[in-house]
Amino acid sequence: MKGRIAVLGGDGIGPEVVAEGVRVLEAVASRHGHVFELEALPFGGVAIDAFGDGLPEHTLEGCVAADGVLLGAIGGPKWGPDAPVRPEPALLRLRAELGVYANLRPIAVQQALRDASPIKPEYLDGVDLLFVRELTGGIYFGRKWREGARAFDECAYSVSEIERITRVAGRLAASRRGKITQVDKSNVLETSRLWRTVSERVIRTEFPGVKIEHMFVDAAAMHLIRRPRDFDVILTENLFGDILTDEGAMLAGSLGVLPSAALGEGRRGLYEPIHGSAPDIAGLGIANPCGTILSAALLLRHSLGLESEARAIEAAVAKALSRGARTADIAANGAKSLSTREMGDAVLAALD
Ligand code: IPM
Ligand code: MG
Repeated sequence: MKGRIAVLGGDGIGPEVVAEGVRVLEAVASRHGHVFELEALPFGGVAIDAFGDGLPEHTLEGCVAADGVLLGAIGGPKWGPDAPVRPEPALLRLRAELGVYANLRPIAVQQALRDASPIKPEYLDGVDLLFVRELTGGIYFGRKWREGARAFDECAYSVSEIERITRVAGRLAASRRGKITQVDKSNVLETSRLWRTVSERVIRTEFPGVKIEHMFVDAAAMHLIRRPRDFDVILTENLFGDILTDEGAMLAGSLGVLPSAALGEGRRGLYEPIHGSAPDIAGLGIANPCGTILSAALLLRHSLGLESEARAIEAAVAKALSRGARTADIAANGAKSLSTREMGDAVLAALD
């Protein structure tokens, strides 16, 4: 098949990890007789430096025209909170323009990495959870303003925004263990009370086989560590999802191994590792490319419908890890670790 993929390396370690994702995509294309047209486009801080805009018009056009977008990471100290133009709003704009309101962040503990997690291994057996994070609403997208010595961030959610993301969670839960934990702060926030009633109604009326429970976000942060295997699908709003997914990533041992997919109504999606641009190690060639490689697998699955190719990539990453391939973030103390490129080689070697 033919597929069009926009490739946004971004900032920091982004280009390094994306290069490995691209190598894996190219290997899959040549083995399975597909043609992937890959188009590299400037995005984030590098685009601000070159064009004065983190999301230049031609980058947005390329993303809109693509079947899927593979993104590394954006941001860095050069474009910090006081910079006149920052990269983060470009990412939010890209998500909004692509209409990718459903952010899937699966957290599965790779058997080979049980010891890399700071959590005791006995808590990790059977952990297989999926965050469904609302991605284009809430406090991220509300009005922001200052008045004198005060600053404001508005948080708004509409019934339809909650309904559509709940349906995504419902469909996914139905194909998994049939359980949704909807996370909010409804003991304090009005938007959270709306989330609770709307998600409850949608699941009860449209997904009879799925159970939904509700949990306050502070309790969820605790239970995620205390009894992670009890969770199946965690459905939550934009900000809580951002925070809880970094916490949840620690179950898997490292932010570096986790992929994500952002999807909307059609097949087009935005795929990125959940880690950031890690400016402290940028350019050293030691970042873990697994999160990006697994994001490329999600792209094949969700945007191109190539399920067996996606599985082949996932199996190759698991195999490389079980053979002992480790980048610095997941290597045991003092053990030898691979470079980003060598980890990519290990995954390629494990691809059958
Ligand atoms: C993420 C990131 C982004 C977010 C930042 C870079 C804007 O933390 O994808 O989790 O908060 O959504
Ligand atoms: Mg985040």
